[in-house]
Amino acid sequence: MPSSVLFEVRRQAEESVEKLVNHDRDHKVFNSGDSVFSDKDKMREQGKRKFSWRNETDESFARMRKIAQQRKSLPIASVERRVVDEVRKNDTLIIVGETGSGKTTQLPQFLFNAGFCRDGKLIGVTQPRRVAAVTVAKRVAEECGIELGQKVGYSIRFEDVTSSTTRIKYMTDGLLLREALLDPRLSKYSVIIVDEAHERTVHTDVLLGLLKNVQRARLRSPTNQCLVDSKDFHTSKVLPLKLVIMSASLDARGFSEYLGNAKAVHVQGRQFPVDILYTYSPESDYIDAALITIFQIHLEEGPGDILVFLTGQEEIESVERLVRERALHLSEDSRKILTVPVYSALPSEQQMQVFRPAPDGFRKVILATNIAETSVTIPGIRFVIDTGLVKARSFNPRTGMESLVIIPISKAQALQRSGRAGREVPGKCFRLYTEDEFGKLAESTIPEIKRCNLSNVVLQLKALGIDDVIGFDFMDKPSRMAVVKSLEHLYVLGALTVEGKLSDPVGFQMARLPLDPIYAKGLIVASKLNCLEEMLIIVSMLSVESIFYSPREKMEEARAARKCFASQEGDHITLLNVYRASVESLEKSRMGNQETIRDKTVEKKLNKWCRENFINSRSLRHAREIHRQILGHVQNMGLNVTSCGQDMDQFRRCLAASFFLNAAVKQPDGLYRAMASGQTVQIHPSSVLFGTKPDCIIFNELVRTNHNYIRNISRIDPLWLSEFAPHYYGNKE
Ligand code: CDP
Ligand code: MG
Repeated sequence: MPSSVLFEVRRQAEESVEKLVNHDRDHKVFNSGDSVFSDKDKMREQGKRKFSWRNETDESFARMRKIAQQRKSLPIASVERRVVDEVRKNDTLIIVGETGSGKTTQLPQFLFNAGFCRDGKLIGVTQPRRVAAVTVAKRVAEECGIELGQKVGYSIRFEDVTSSTTRIKYMTDGLLLREALLDPRLSKYSVIIVDEAHERTVHTDVLLGLLKNVQRARLRSPTNQCLVDSKDFHTSKVLPLKLVIMSASLDARGFSEYLGNAKAVHVQGRQFPVDILYTYSPESDYIDAALITIFQIHLEEGPGDILVFLTGQEEIESVERLVRERALHLSEDSRKILTVPVYSALPSEQQMQVFRPAPDGFRKVILATNIAETSVTIPGIRFVIDTGLVKARSFNPRTGMESLVIIPISKAQALQRSGRAGREVPGKCFRLYTEDEFGKLAESTIPEIKRCNLSNVVLQLKALGIDDVIGFDFMDKPSRMAVVKSLEHLYVLGALTVEGKLSDPVGFQMARLPLDPIYAKGLIVASKLNCLEEMLIIVSMLSVESIFYSPREKMEEARAARKCFASQEGDHITLLNVYRASVESLEKSRMGNQETIRDKTVEKKLNKWCRENFINSRSLRHAREIHRQILGHVQNMGLNVTSCGQDMDQFRRCLAASFFLNAAVKQPDGLYRAMASGQTVQIHPSSVLFGTKPDCIIFNELVRTNHNYIRNISRIDPLWLSEFAPHYYGNKE
């Protein structure tokens, strides 16, 4: 094992931003040095100052002042009026600007101050990721000096922190799509800002197409007559929808063309030089290389925090542990290293930690997924370690199987990552790959819509009344084969009729549930088979990553703890056992302590129980939250929440009836054949069924590494497949 990673140094300037991204000369370039505050603006600023800084001894005084200073120094601050004017003049505007220039936190406030929320209308800001929506909303509420959920709020799947007074609403792009189901004209919004559009998530792409339609529809009466001229923004009752697309990638041409040659403006950011360092030779173990580099920087470089790009929660948690373990071998003084995780499913209360400065003398090491590329801007970073990898969805339209794979990032992503080191001072980026390998990376990332399972999208479009999915105005069209496969998939799940219409009631019910169609169907099936209580738990537990926690130094203890929950029948019942045991432990403490326990106490009890049982408390808490939310949904839908009690066979029958599309049978060589796709798969070592090899199974997840691994598996009777899915298995062997 190497004890150090050798790097070659390259200046960022050598592969300049200009080369990678086509800067359109027609874009107006704002110069952040210009002062554009009018006297009125200045007076307003001063007026604010007097009002919010009334008490000089107030503890929050220093913080508020610091925040005000930070805000003023952001590149976008000096062009406030011009940006607002552009939004006024253009129904659709594209704003490009480097990460950290203040787009996400400032623009909505500028528009609010400029009167875009008159008549109680809202400014909606969509983010591809939940963590970004939450942390930014918190930050903006703090900047405004108000409580979160009042003027500024957020709404993400399973969590709504808004009220009737909310005017600036941050949300995930998926959530706005759901709102469109209930209100196709999105009538409560005056402006919708689609942020991080360069990410091109599948939801962003669908949203863009939808918003184009909404804009057109809002200019017409229900009888399709043109009602208003969009210039009469403040006088007309029927407001046109203002659309702002924000992107960190300087290439806005694609968006502009797609959005009817919309105007694009560029907010110039600041970027200090970043030294790019490549490894001399390829690194086979990127986790180990990352660890070594963390300590190399910590021991040899000057002050400054480190940002490490990893691929997922599990990996982040294991690096967290390894850093802590290795730090113990250092001298007392060198041990001052603090790890902070950032990934999408991070529970709310831990999300803001990443923005807090490390205690005096400590170096902060932020372990992040690609969420830290552009979605969240973290101050204080001087060093970036880039593994060059990302976890992405991948869909094979031929087999109809979606899997999670770890793939190389694109050059554009590598550039964004290194840019994070030079926001405040000159920095360094350690790429854990060679310059040669960099040269072979794709220029830009393939939009997600071209590489994911489209069932969810198709279901949503159908629910929105858009029947011709293939003809939908996508910025990049998904392959016809992928759309057809999804239509087929939804048909066998019973969501669509033979004519391709949403079925009543199953299709409509499935579309209402904010879940993958296969899980939504699972809940509906379970309500009929009297197992909805169990299925709600399973769907919640399957919605989070890594429930079990096994630190390297306590592998044996962790294994023994897991055995207490393990079921011979598979991972689903095992997960059910974990969830129920955790609930029981809380019930017990409640009985011992007659008064109602407050939230904090519950948290503590749960954390203790998790530690003792080697359960990942972050994941379990997230699962409990999801459970609470989906329970609300199914109750609203009038489904029967009953339990099958001790009858676990009944529950497994329900699993077979729900997940029949993911059934697999054992082959003579001990591997499995997925029945729907014909793919060869094998049981992941983390499954309780690893090594036991039942004849027939259903599974919920396919993970592709060097093997096709399946996870979350249960043993089933093959006869159940033809019993519950005769339309699918009836005429197969
Ligand atoms: O959207 P963009 O990348 O252009 O910038 P932003 O997210 O609006 O961030 C502007 C500034 O706010 C950054 O310099 C961050 O340091 C700060 N910020 C923060 O301190 N805490 C947050 N939760 C979000 C932003
Ligand atoms: Mg942003």
